Amino acid sequence: MSTTTNRVAVLHGVNFNILERRDPSFYGGKSLSELEHQISDWARALGLEPIFFQTNHEGEFVEYLHRLPDLGDAAIINAGAWTHYSRAIADALDVAGLPAVEVHLSDVDARDDWRKLSVFDGLVLAKISGKGAEGYREALELLAGELGSSA
Ligand code: DQA
Repeated sequence: MSTTTNRVAVLHGVNFNILERRDPSFYGGKSLSELEHQISDWARALGLEPIFFQTNHEGEFVEYLHRLPDLGDAAIINAGAWTHYSRAIADALDVAGLPAVEVHLSDVDARDDWRKLSVFDGLVLAKISGKGAEGYREALELLAGELGSSA
């Protein structure tokens, strides 16, 4: 059994594999792998061990959440559009029972009305939105505090 308590799973949902092709005014123009490198550097500087996952398939996302308690100690979730309607993903996150932070690159509360609803409401420690990649750094800092990790 692992004794580490510093593993942070960073989960991306639908359409993040083509992040560099999405509207740069909302999403910054970086590829997912560039974003993950940045997150990885920030995580390690905080004494955290990042692991990354992305899928375009809702069932795979749910099944990853089922395995999550064996893989990580905390999670950062950007589920993309699923955020706004997938009760299945919210239920699976609830079962996983890990400290989690919801992150969005764009400011979801300043866009379409349907983006204002989040199925993760009440399940996450915080929702960080509209800060671009910096939002992930904030989420990592919050989780480092939660896990008692320091560099
Ligand atoms: C997003 C916001 C969602 O509304 C959208 O569907 C995405 C990306 C963000 O990071 O800003 O796919 O989660």
